[in-house]
Order: sequence, then C-alpha cells, then structure tokens
Amino acid sequence: MTVRVGVLTGGGDAPGLNAAICGLARRLLAANAELIGFVDGWRGLMEDRTRSLQHENFQHLLVYGGTLLGSSGDNPYRDPATSVPKVLATLQRHRLDALVTIGGEGTLGAADRLFREHQVPVVGMPKTIDNDLEATDFTFGFFSAVEVATRAMDDLRSTADSHSRVMVVECMGRHAGWITAYAGVAAGAEAVLVPERPVQIEDLCQNLGRLRQSGARSAIVAVAEGARLFEGGNCLSSMEKDEFGEYKTGGAAATLARRIQANLGWDARHVVLGHLQRAGKPIAFDRIFALRLGARAARLVLERRFGYMAAMRAGEIVEVPLQAAVAARKTLTGQFLDRYESFFMPIGGP
Ligand code: F6P
Repeated sequence: MTVRVGVLTGGGDAPGLNAAICGLARRLLAANAELIGFVDGWRGLMEDRTRSLQHENFQHLLVYGGTLLGSSGDNPYRDPATSVPKVLATLQRHRLDALVTIGGEGTLGAADRLFREHQVPVVGMPKTIDNDLEATDFTFGFFSAVEVATRAMDDLRSTADSHSRVMVVECMGRHAGWITAYAGVAAGAEAVLVPERPVQIEDLCQNLGRLRQSGARSAIVAVAEGARLFEGGNCLSSMEKDEFGEYKTGGAAATLARRIQANLGWDARHVVLGHLQRAGKPIAFDRIFALRLGARAARLVLERRFGYMAAMRAGEIVEVPLQAAVAARKTLTGQFLDRYESFFMPIGGP
C-alpha cells in the first residue's frame, strides 16, 4: 500500500528549507510514497490547505531560499481545545501515515506534544537561523545567516575606517547569541554583545575609549537583538512581551550607537541586518546539510520510527528523540564564551 506523508515548514523561514523538502521528497518518491505539502505551517493543517509535491522539480528548487510551502508562527497549542482536533481531523481526512515537521522550537514542540499526547506519527527536522535548538550541533540556515552577517561586518569596516567611526551591527537572536558570536568573531569585531552576557554600557564605552586612544580608527560592535543592556544599574532593554510571550526586541544597536557617541564623542552609526539574515539562497553547506536531514527523515518515515528528529552530531546525521530537541533552548556554551573571551570582553576589558 502507498505510504502517504504530509510535510510542513513552520516558524521563521531559513535558507535551506527547500533543500530539506527536496531531500525528503527524493527519497520518499523513490519509494513510491505520496507526499502532500501543508501550506503555511501548522495553519495549513488547522485549515486543511495543501499543495501537491508529486511533480515539483526538486533539483531546481533546492537552491532557493524561503520555503515553497509557505510558513507561519501558528501553533495548535496556542488554543489546543479548538486547534488540536482540527489538526487530527485533517490528518485523518488525508489518511496520512506520517507527518514531517520542519521547524524550530515552536513547530517541533507542537509535533512532540502531538506525538506524545495523540500518537500522531511525526518526524522532525531542525531549522532556525538562531541555532538555539538542543540535541543537534547545528540547525540548517544558521551558517547562511552567519555568512550574511560576517560579510556585512567585513564591508562596514571600510566605511568605518574612512570616517573613523564605530559601527554597531545588530544581528538576529532573541535568546541566543550564536549568529552574533560566530559573525562577530569571524569579522574581528572589537566587541561582541550577546544575550548570554549582560552588557554594562559604561564598561563598553570605557573599553572603546581606550581602544581609540591607542590609535584605532574604527570599531565594529556586533550586538544581538536580544542583548541585555544596562546603564547605571538600569536595564535599557525592553521588558515588554509580544503576543507569543517573548520579550520584544529591536533597538539595541540604535541605543548603543547613541550612547557611544554621547559618552565618547566618537562618531557612531548603527545597522540592523534584520531579515536579510534569513533572505536569499542558502550557502552550499546548508543545502547539503538540509538534503541529508531530509533523506534521514524520509528513512525514519519509511521505517515507521516516529517521535524522532534527524539531527547533526559531530558531523554525522543521527536521530534524536524530539523531546530532547525541545526540552530547552540551546544558548552559547560556556566553552564557546571562554574560547573567544577577548571578543566578548571588549578590548582592554576590566
Ligand atoms: O527565530 C528566527 C528569527 O529570525 C529570530 O532571529 C528573530 O528574532 C525572529 O525570527 C523574527 O521574527 P519575524 O520574522 O516574525 O519578525
């Protein structure tokens, strides 16, 4: 009997989503399975909106950013009493043997609960540019975002040098500083400010002041959107929460640039990289990584092994329980922070 498989992509898009669908589809279609795409993440299952994937040109698709299925942050557990029965009904209507969910903590968290509470046959794949998912070394999309941020900082150095300025560059990452840390270190930023290390603006200014006195013409300050900024013991970062209960972010780089210029008299500008970090084509690594994850997810489906996520551990593609992936957020490790201490502690630090 033909195996019928549904697939959805949820949460913020990330370069490599189409490659992940491609890896999954190639393996499944070769096994004569039927693949049905749900549109706009979990919303597609709640509203029963589908897109056939039987005749896509996956070979061409895998190079493109975004997701051909569309995505949304909707989650059936936001209003479980109404939404979970809708999801279960859609699964039944399509007589699905498996559901592959490609996403981050929110998307995979819902998949894990549906598996444990309703025995939905799910398989997961880890996607987020933030790289904040446990049980996998990396998520696809992360290195593409790092590449965008690194190149931006590299390019900003020349204009910063020309005008003898500080350039404050804001990277995505509400809870975890992975993008900021990798890009900041790779671009030789003078300071790297991440949510894992609260920042005293006075200390930062003091250290940048010393740097300037020592003859530096420019400085790059890489700051995560979720960095916690303190001044005179007060937290300047927003304590307001959004509709999903997350701290509202935005404005970290602008605040810092204003403070640096006011405190030091050193001309400072800020750049918010924003969604450029999620846009465009995935780098080759993410394409191959996502293809491999997709192929492993297909294998899990064909072997009828559910409740797992395909993941990367020490360079190998492995299977991990979904529950382990969503148990906690993966933030920058102490080991990483120690290894690059001089970047996180602004130059000449206390
Ligand atoms: O989680 C991925 C992410 O890109 C975060 O880094 C960022 O804070 C958030 O999504 C932005 O979400 P939205 O696309 O809804 O503005």
